[in-house]
Order: sequence, then C-alpha cells, then structure tokens
Amino acid sequence: MTISQAKAKIEEYKKQKDICILAHSYESRDIIEIADFTGDSYKLSVDASKVKNKNIVFAGVHFMAQTAKMLSPDKNVYMPNTAAGCEMAEQMDVDTLAAMKKKEPDRLVVAYVNTTAELKTLCDVCVTSSSAVKIVSALKEKKILFIPDCNLGDFVKKACPDKDIMLFNGGCPAHQRATKADAIAAKAAHPEALLLVHPECRPEVTALADYVGSTSGIMQFAHKSDKKEFIIGTEMSIAEHLEFECPDKKFFLLSKNIICPNMRMTTLMDVYSICKDIDTPAASDREIIMSDELIRKARVCIDKMIELGG
Ligand code: 13P
Ligand code: SF4
Repeated sequence: MTISQAKAKIEEYKKQKDICILAHSYESRDIIEIADFTGDSYKLSVDASKVKNKNIVFAGVHFMAQTAKMLSPDKNVYMPNTAAGCEMAEQMDVDTLAAMKKKEPDRLVVAYVNTTAELKTLCDVCVTSSSAVKIVSALKEKKILFIPDCNLGDFVKKACPDKDIMLFNGGCPAHQRATKADAIAAKAAHPEALLLVHPECRPEVTALADYVGSTSGIMQFAHKSDKKEFIIGTEMSIAEHLEFECPDKKFFLLSKNIICPNMRMTTLMDVYSICKDIDTPAASDREIIMSDELIRKARVCIDKMIELGG
C-alpha cells in the first residue's frame, strides 16, 4: 500500500464509521494531513469536548487520549498505538503527590496536563503550556504546588511574581536535552533568526529566547512574523511542519536532540489499522477504557482548566 492509498482508505473509513481524527502537532506530516483537528494540548482538549462523531481516534500520547475520553465520555476514544506514553506524565505517582500534599496542606495543586488521570484526581486545576500563566494568574490562591514540570513551573513563577509557587523536580527528557550552549551556538550560526522555544526547555534556554510558547504558539508566531528565519526549540517535527506551511521562511533546529520517541511512535499505518478495525472486536485493545468514577474525579481539574483558560 502507498501513502496516498492509505490516506484514501482512512478518508473512506472516517465517513463510513463516523470517525474524527485528532492529532497533536508533534505527529508526523502524513498524520497531520489526514487529521480533522490538530494543535497543542489545550486546543485539542477543547476540540475533543466538542466532537460530534461517535468515534475519536487520538494520535498523540496516552494522557492526551485520556483527556479526550474524560471530555467526551460518551464517545469511543482510540489510540492508534497504545505504546505512546509521555515520559514526564509517568514521573510522578499518586503516593508521591499525596505525601507532598500532606506536608504542604495549604497549597493549591496546579498540575501540568501531562499527568496521568489517577494523579489528576488529587489535583485542583490543570494547565497546559499555552494556558499556564493565564490560569495561575487568575487563581485567587497565592500558595501553589506546581507539578510535575519544574521548567514550565519556573516559567510560570517568573511570570507570576506575586505567587508563592513550590516546584516538583520533574520535566520532559526531550526538551531538557537542549542546553544553553546549543542556544548560543544556534544564534551564532543564524544571527538573523529568532529563537522560539517551548517552556519545557531549561530556564537558561528560555532566557535567551525571543518567544516562549506552546507548540501552537510557536507555529502561529512563525506564521505571523515578518521575519524570515527561526530557530525552533521544541520537538523537531514542528520545524518540518513549518517548512511545509511557510515555504518562504527558513527553520533551523535549536538541538537535534529534542526528539520525543513517543510522539514518533504512531505511524500512518497505525491510524489506517485502527480506522479499519473500529466497529469490530479487533479495535478493543486500542480503546481508552476508564471507570466512571475515575473520569468523574479526574475531570474536575480539566473542567477548571477549560473554565479559566478559555
Ligand atoms: P503543548 O501543550 O505545547 O502541545 O505541549 C505538549 C507537550 O507534550 C510538549 O512536549
Ligand atoms: Fe511528554 Fe516530552 Fe514527549 Fe511532550 S515531548 S509528550 S512532555 S515526553
């Protein structure tokens, strides 16, 4: 089967079986092209809550598909490749957070959405990279425990100096691989280029950036800017998407090491396969199953995120 034949079959299955495909911006170009909704994790959460189709196929990592299920519990939500987890989401377990809450009972727990549903049941409000500063600023509480990403937490802390924010020592292994030396070298090699980075990067990297924002934020900035050259400080797929979308501009990588193996895991053929299997028993191994109780408890902080982040 060729790529175009696979895409044509996926389009057929989408109509036949009432399927909507959501794909995170880090997914591969061929998947982005057949998706109905693409974007950062905040946008996809809002999109998931509005989907009318019976079936959702979520190309991304596990916590994102779980979030889609929580926001559309009456839909069948599938992951094309269930091995795609998020390394950061798996860094903090329920016992660790419960112990921290016991020590710091007067702190509101603000969780990056990159957390498991089980952990979310212990959190007060979720944030994404695009909504974190807006949401934390809107909270009346001053004392906050921000989990698990210490780099996004540090970014929020600097933007909200009136808050007392305690951090957990977690983070994204892919973004943490970009160093200050990478930023200095990339700027020296491309002196005309603007440096656009994700807040999951280290503080010494974001300090050198011309723009810090989510995956969608970085893409929109590059689209709208009248500059012609950009250094991209997030998963390398974003530079490739921008090359297709803005062929008159040049995109360079901050570091060739910002690769998320989990986001690279789902292939177009995985999407083809789940679309083919939906409405048959073969799809059940890729369906997101969560108990009503887990959805009810974990959803509270997601709903709060959408209320405050909109
Ligand atoms: P965004 O919210 O920018 O999509 O980030 C999600 C993510 O996992 C980045 O590594
Ligand atoms: Fe998780 Fe990092 Fe991959 Fe984003 S890039 S999905 S935070 S491991």
